Amino acid sequence: MSETFSLNGKTILVTGATSGIGKQCAIDLSSSGAKLVVTGRDETRLNETMALLKGEGHNFFVADLLDFDKFASIAESLPVLDGVVHSAGITGHLPAKFIGKNDISEIMQLNYMAPVLLTAALLRKKKIANKASIVFLSSITTKYPYYGGALYGSSKAAIEAYSRVLSIELAAKGIRSNCVSPSFVRTPMVDDAGKTISNDVLEKFEKMMPLGFGEPTDVSNAILYLLSDASKWVTGSNMVLGGG
Ligand SMILES: NC(=O)c1ccc[n+]([C@@H]2O[C@H](COP(=O)([O-])OP(=O)(O)OC[C@H]3O[C@@H](n4cnc5c(N)ncnc54)[C@H](OP(=O)(O)O)[C@@H]3O)[C@@H](O)[C@H]2O)c1
Repeated sequence: MSETFSLNGKTILVTGATSGIGKQCAIDLSSSGAKLVVTGRDETRLNETMALLKGEGHNFFVADLLDFDKFASIAESLPVLDGVVHSAGITGHLPAKFIGKNDISEIMQLNYMAPVLLTAALLRKKKIANKASIVFLSSITTKYPYYGGALYGSSKAAIEAYSRVLSIELAAKGIRSNCVSPSFVRTPMVDDAGKTISNDVLEKFEKMMPLGFGEPTDVSNAILYLLSDASKWVTGSNMVLGGG
């Protein structure tokens, strides 16, 4: 493994580690030498992720990230972190005229409030080390919208704006904050999207992408870079992973 991208000696929290991008991140970051703390709601799948991690000293905790009131005690129980990957998220497809209050609340609570409040709790408990790196999962849809994607796109645009401000506020400690913005990646989230978006439309999307849909490793490799010291001069950025 190249020393440039090594995560040796770093402890990294990954949310959404029971599935898709978060799970792949956890596996790949452990292969690069990181000690992982992984979380998700589903204990069985969290244990499956734990079993796939390379090396030793990893930890996990089961949590619903909508339980904001537990964030202070969760932060208290964690070690000091050199990196955080906020991967837990949900998608949604709802034409603008059908959007109601509860729809806004549901998507904003997990995609925006959870990472924002968890980050605040970690900072207050001094659990983010100097020179650490925080990565948020945005989406290419903030730049290239799709029909019915207003809520999902808004939640991701909000986290992008937050991350840029965070990068300024934490720069004095050398803590970096960046987003990655993938296009379609083959995960259970996209499989689920297939229930509300027809296969024809999904195929049309894939044909529009010169390199086709991505794999979870295409995202985890970019996140690995952002967590490593190789990206020590990169903050406030948003890396688009669009397949062209
Ligand atoms: N896949 C794509 O095409 C794509 C593209 C752009 C951006 N993204 C973003 O990438 C991130 C990961 O997506 P993915 O495709 O890997 O999704 P996924 O396979 O559906 O995984 C979603 C993860 O979020 C967790 N989660 C959901 N609700 C939660 C809650 N209330 N509390 C705690 N954890 C919760 C799930 O945990 P449990 O299973 O344990 O409930 C699961 O680990 C998301 O933020 C998504 O918006 C994905």
